[in-house]
Amino acid sequence: MRTQVAIIGAGPAGLMLGHLLHLSNIDSIIIENRAKDYVIERVRAGVLEQGTVDLMIASGVGDRLKRDGLRHDGVWLAFNGERHRIDFLGLTGKSVVVYGQNEVVKDFIAAREASERPLHFEVSDVRVRDVESARPKVCLQKDDDEHEIVCDFIAGCDGFHGICRPAFPSGFLQCYEKDYPFAWLGILATAPPSSEELVYALHERGFALYSMRSARVTRLYLRCAPDEKISEWPDDRIWEELQTRLGTKDGWRINRGTITQKAVTPMRGFVADPMRFGNLFLAGDAAHIVPPTGAKGLNLAAADVRFLTHALVAYYKTGSSDELNNYSAKCLKRVWKAQRFSWWMTSMLHRFGTANDFDYRRQIAELDYLTGSRAAMTSLAENYVGLPIE
Ligand code: FAD
Ligand code: PHB
Repeated sequence: MRTQVAIIGAGPAGLMLGHLLHLSNIDSIIIENRAKDYVIERVRAGVLEQGTVDLMIASGVGDRLKRDGLRHDGVWLAFNGERHRIDFLGLTGKSVVVYGQNEVVKDFIAAREASERPLHFEVSDVRVRDVESARPKVCLQKDDDEHEIVCDFIAGCDGFHGICRPAFPSGFLQCYEKDYPFAWLGILATAPPSSEELVYALHERGFALYSMRSARVTRLYLRCAPDEKISEWPDDRIWEELQTRLGTKDGWRINRGTITQKAVTPMRGFVADPMRFGNLFLAGDAAHIVPPTGAKGLNLAAADVRFLTHALVAYYKTGSSDELNNYSAKCLKRVWKAQRFSWWMTSMLHRFGTANDFDYRRQIAELDYLTGSRAAMTSLAENYVGLPIE
C-alpha cells in the first residue's frame, strides 16, 4: 500500500488529521488497533474549546455538534458551602461547548466513511520502519495477513500507550513527567442535570466535579486514591459522597439516577520533547498528557492536528519543510501553557495529602481571592475557553 500520510490511531487526533488532510486533497491511511464500536463507546472528554468547535464546524463535521452540543457561558466553583460563577462570556466574549468525545469521534468516523478514504480498525502488531528516510513504512497485521504501508510521513496519533513514541531512538526524547498522588472516580448516570453549568468543588473531603453530556445524562467525578477499588464504591456510596462534596448551603442538590459506567482515571502530566523524529510526527496524547481538571487534553490534540495539517499542506504545495521543522516547537509552546493551567486548576482544587489544614485554608483563600477578582477570573476564563491559536 502507498499513501502520503500514514496515520496510526483513530482517536480524535488521528481522525481529525485524516479529515483535514482529505479536505486539502492529501491522501492518508488511518489504522486503529481497536474495534470501531470500542473507539466510539469509550467515555472520555466532554468540554470543547471554541477553537475546537470552530474547527469542526469549518471542516463540515459540525452539524450534530451545532444541534446537540450544550453551549456553556461559564462554570461554577464551589467551596465553603457556596457556589461562585465564572462568567466566561462576559469576561472573554467566548464560551465552551459540552459535547462528548465519543460524539466527536462518531462525527469524524462518519466523515471518513463518506470520503471513502481508508480507515482500518482491528489491525495488530503495528510497527514503524525507516522513519529517517524519505520512504518511511508502517507494518501491520490485518486478518492474519502482513501488510506494509509506504508513505512520505507517519503521524503517531496512537495515544499515551501507543507504539510511536517508544519508536524514537533512546536518548533522543526528553520526557517531562508529573505524577499526581490521586485519581478521579468518574461515573456516567442517566439523570437530568440539576445545574446548567459545570461545578468544580473543593470540599474538606476532597474534589468533586459535576458535568453532563445531555439533558438526560450527567457525568460526575470524585477525587479518589490512584489504586481505588471500584468494587468498594456501590452506587449509593457514590451518590452520598457526591452530594456531600458538591452540595451547597443554598440547598442545591444533585439528581440521582442509574449509573451506567464507572471508571478510575489516573492523573498525570507528561510532555515528550521534541514531537518529531525524522518523518514521524506525534500528535495528541501520544506526545503529552494533562490532568483532566482543565479539560484540555482533547483540545490540545485538536491544536496539534491543526498545526500538523498546516505544515503538511505547506510542504505539498511549496516543497518547503519550514513549517514541518517548526511543528514541535509550535505545539509545545501551547502544550506547556495548557500543562501550567491544568496543574494550577488541579493544585487549587485537590487536597494533596491527608489532613493538612494549612494547605486547605490556603486553597480556600485562593478560591476566595479568585472569585472576588475580575483579573483573576479573567485569567481562568481565557485559559478555560482556550488561548488563541497563533
Ligand atoms: P486517544 O484518544 O488515546 O486515541 C489514540 C488511539 O490510538 C486510540 O483509539 C487507540 O486505540 C489507538 N492506538 C493505540 N495504540 C495503537 C497501535 N499500536 N496501533 C493502532 N492504533 C493504536 N480532554 C479534554 O479536552 N476535555 C475534557 O473534558 C477531558 N476529559 C477527560 C476525562 C477523562 C476521564 C479522560 C480519561 C480524558 C479526558 N480528556 C479530556 C483527555 C482526552 O480524552 C484525550 O486527551 C484525547 O482522547 C486525546 O486524543 P488522542 O487521539 O490523542 O488519543
Ligand atoms: C467531562 O465532562 O468529562 C469533564 C468536564 C470537565 C473536566 C473534565 C472532564 O475538567
